[in-house]
Amino acid sequence: MIPFVDLKAQYASIRNEVNAAIQGVLDSCQFTLGSEVAAFEEEFAAYCQAKNGIGVNNGTSALHLALLAANIGPGDEVITVPFTFVATVSAIHYSGATPVFVDIDPKTFTMDVTAIEAAITARTKAILPVHLYGQPADMDPIMEIAKRRGLIVIEDAAQAHGAEYRGRRAGSIGDMGCFSFYPGKNLGAYGEGGMVVTNDADYMRTIRMLRDWGAEKKYQHILKGYNYRLETIQGAVLRVKLRHLEGWTEARRAAAARYHRLLAGNGVPTPEAMSQVRHVYHIYAIRSRQREALQDALLAQGIHTGIHYPTPVHLLPAFADLGYRAGDFPHSEQAANEVLSLPMFPELTAAQCEEVVAAVIGHTSASRETRSVATAT
Ligand SMILES: Cc1ncc(COP(=O)(O)O)c(C=O)c1O
Repeated sequence: MIPFVDLKAQYASIRNEVNAAIQGVLDSCQFTLGSEVAAFEEEFAAYCQAKNGIGVNNGTSALHLALLAANIGPGDEVITVPFTFVATVSAIHYSGATPVFVDIDPKTFTMDVTAIEAAITARTKAILPVHLYGQPADMDPIMEIAKRRGLIVIEDAAQAHGAEYRGRRAGSIGDMGCFSFYPGKNLGAYGEGGMVVTNDADYMRTIRMLRDWGAEKKYQHILKGYNYRLETIQGAVLRVKLRHLEGWTEARRAAAARYHRLLAGNGVPTPEAMSQVRHVYHIYAIRSRQREALQDALLAQGIHTGIHYPTPVHLLPAFADLGYRAGDFPHSEQAANEVLSLPMFPELTAAQCEEVVAAVIGHTSASRETRSVATAT
């Protein structure tokens, strides 16, 4: 059996460190925010090459508060992509603003930067690119358009811890960057967590208040805020795991390179990394026209895969009220029909990679033969 993600293997490798960190929190009886969270904020912001980090209870809250700090609300429009996890778009909805979609570049799965200008209206306030699968969106053109048109840029870096664009870390390029520490993420909590990183002291101050009921000091509520605090146990666990993140990221990149090498020349479209990025392979997605059959065939051999994501957000019933239709974003729709995420986690062994690739190639060539027999008869 090859799992899609193996959190147990990772825990086994850091068990003593994590257990000691959790015990420390239990002994302190400080369960929300506190010194472990403050230290993690400082360490993770530094890791992202940003001045400030504000820990929150999940990645969706990070996006929500970043939008609020930028003063985005009802009547405003935020440009993003439909080929993302629903949370990106839900956060825009929470703020009261309207999500406006542009399609993706089919090669990189990230925002098609040539489509942005046509989507800008007098109501546009922000661009929200998603660094999908661990690859930063093409940030230079995005920042150039934003600067020229007076727009804020909020990076959805939920899948891109440690990713780089021209040597700059994801999350620190735009005005604010938002991370998720959902357990399966490249840096995952043992529960939920998220963070906004920013170089801007005003955004930092506002988000710090908004996450804790809008208060600067206890019971002095300056803003209408939320209970979006990060738990102390998560801060302590994440501090331990951050120390291992670079090693884990390099292991992911090595596994991706191995997949690439083994799949090359077999008619299986593999993901492309732009030359100016450090892709951190949260997900390694191939494409297949017979995606469901391939997924079933792999599962029959004990290989677990995922689909990220089967329906682009503009076609989800939850967002039907935005008024988009099938055909509006053909590259997102085609990707949603074709992508298949292969097992990807730092502990994935060379033998496991080889087994996965043999199964993928075996199924792909078998179905090619079946198709040519069918055409011949
Ligand atoms: C692209 C993207 N944005 C936002 C989120 C939301 O993060 P969370 O689940 O921590 O709320 C996620 C992860 O779930 C994600 O993958």
